[in-house]
Amino acid sequence: MKVLVVGSGGREHALALKLSQDPGVEVICAPGNPGIAAFAPCFPIAANALDELVVLALSEQVDLVVVGPEDPLVLGLADMLRSQGVPTFGPGSDGARLEGSKAFSKAIMEEAGVPTALGKSFQDPGSAKDYIRSKWDSGRKVVIKASGNALGKGVIVAETLEEAIQAVDDLQALGEAGETLVVEDRLFGREFSLLTLVNGSDIFSLPVAQDYKRIFDGDQGPNTGGMGTYSPVPWINPEWVTTAEEKIVRPAIQALKAKGIDYRGVLFSGIMVENDAVYCLEYNVRFGDPETQSVMNRIGEGLSYALLACANGDPIPEIPVLDKAVCTVVVASEGYPGTVVKGREISLGSVPENVTVYHAGTAQPDKLVTSGGRVLGVTATAASLVEARRLAYEGVSQVCFEGMQFRTDIGQKVDA
Ligand code: AMP
Ligand code: GLY
Repeated sequence: MKVLVVGSGGREHALALKLSQDPGVEVICAPGNPGIAAFAPCFPIAANALDELVVLALSEQVDLVVVGPEDPLVLGLADMLRSQGVPTFGPGSDGARLEGSKAFSKAIMEEAGVPTALGKSFQDPGSAKDYIRSKWDSGRKVVIKASGNALGKGVIVAETLEEAIQAVDDLQALGEAGETLVVEDRLFGREFSLLTLVNGSDIFSLPVAQDYKRIFDGDQGPNTGGMGTYSPVPWINPEWVTTAEEKIVRPAIQALKAKGIDYRGVLFSGIMVENDAVYCLEYNVRFGDPETQSVMNRIGEGLSYALLACANGDPIPEIPVLDKAVCTVVVASEGYPGTVVKGREISLGSVPENVTVYHAGTAQPDKLVTSGGRVLGVTATAASLVEARRLAYEGVSQVCFEGMQFRTDIGQKVDA
């Protein structure tokens, strides 16, 4: 089976590597990155160059396309590929609205009876501010979200009323993404990420991971795309996962189906546990990054065939889960999550055994240099989380580039 992976981040590196380890599977990638290029041919076609990607899939006669990022999905890449007869793992533009529009996603949650924070959509900033004031007066804190895709900068968890009011103006200043705002009741609890493979009606969830969204230790500083993950997550009661599948994942797929939307891809549910109950914070229509880097190391063989089955609407074969612990630490550029400094030379040192260094924001014009915010994901696999964490940081200590930053507390407080 020949698989084309679309994208260039750490998530795609982890997916491409895992897929390439399945027997009988050949992987190609577009555009890929220097880490992927070490084991799979990479074609210099951007993930948003939809027409060129379709031409590549046809000329390379691939059996499956796996789309990494959300943008090409929102833009309709999966629809274009399917209309050419190419089996594709990833929803069409209609299903991708679950991530492309928080207002749509919230409406689906409400329609499907998915437990979620109470939310209201606004186009008029004045009404949004009035609503926020009335919530605050009644003793409820709120979270303000830009409905459109704001590249991880569209959610403001306000601590004070002033911050909440300011958030309305700040999110509107984002332009199109902030034209519609969603104001949600703030929940208080711990979060986890559930990645579920979907074949249009049936589901298969991968092992759960926990992400660290804030830039600094102790969950301080602004939100990022994710600074590290670990899996398994010991504080999670397995019943919560079953409940999440039944109350958060399946109803959304059914609600989409009722609208004629055949969802084939991964549904990523961001879940918060408050007082032993699960709530859906958001849906994403792609694998999480850096969740994928950890999760790929928790599963055995067969991902390629499971993704192909989803693409074709066939029953999803089970993928074995490994009894191992995995920890991923992201190494980011100076300035991240703001404006980053690029072009810094990277030395990877000697990578310890059972550690994989996934590339994300790297380029290799001749020497390996930084080219983005999140540069590398250092992932370690071990018998216990304590050991996986120790090993991941041993891997990080080998990495060197000017201005590098990473959290030192990934996987530290993992218990209940
Ligand atoms: P989202 O992109 O909607 O998942 O939001 C990004 C982050 O903001 C989440 O991972 C949470 O940490 C936080 N967040 C979002 N919605 C809420 C909420 N209703 N209550 C508390 N925190 C939230
Ligand atoms: N790590 C969170 C995300 O991929 O959105």
